[in-house]
Amino acid sequence: MRNNVKIAPSVLAADFANLKEEVAQAEHGGADWLHLDVMDGHFVPNISFGPFIVGAIREQTKLPLDTHLMIESPEKYLDDFRRAGSDIITVHQEACKHLQRTVALIKELGAKAGVAINPATSTSLLSNIMDDVDLILIMSVNPGFGGQKFIKGSERKIREVREMIEKTGREIHLEVDGGIDTGTAPAVVRAGANVLVAGTSIFRGHEIKKAIEDLRKSYR
Ligand code: DX5
Ligand code: ZN
Repeated sequence: MRNNVKIAPSVLAADFANLKEEVAQAEHGGADWLHLDVMDGHFVPNISFGPFIVGAIREQTKLPLDTHLMIESPEKYLDDFRRAGSDIITVHQEACKHLQRTVALIKELGAKAGVAINPATSTSLLSNIMDDVDLILIMSVNPGFGGQKFIKGSERKIREVREMIEKTGREIHLEVDGGIDTGTAPAVVRAGANVLVAGTSIFRGHEIKKAIEDLRKSYR
């Protein structure tokens, strides 16, 4: 299990003036996926980027693009993000009026579908969507910004969702996002996460490859 843990660097923490090089370094440094944080200034207080940048990143890498939509009414933009090259599209439970319909739409577009929940959202709200999703994303910070401190209570939520996943008998990724570094990764992997998103700890050090290797070593 631990050997199958995927690392998904979040480009939000990358140097955007040098994005091509940063993406190449992440890919050659051993990243499994690239995590793309889309923020609309409504669902979260910050604005990041949209499908245009996702498309530009698509041109630069073969890595699966894991697009995390922190936006209101995500159903309006699914087609744009899929066309831009997203392989996995994750929407927030809190942002969807008709979550099952939105998840079904992502799959109709040929992408893998993920559902994210904020730190204050109960895992029980996922119970009726488990049969439809390919990925659950547990936010371990309040979404909107990189570089925040990991919220400890997230470990319990990861354990709860791991149990829910086992009960389905299906393969569903369990991703954790926010404040992940060599200090916090071991406990989240122990709790059952199999995809680690990391922004600051990967892009803000001096060497991307070394940061990915160190993160991987921390939970082995
Ligand atoms: C937060 C984003 C995260 C963020 C993680 O809203 O969803 O993906 O980039 O950044 P770090 O690893 O710096 O907490
Ligand atoms: Zn994210």
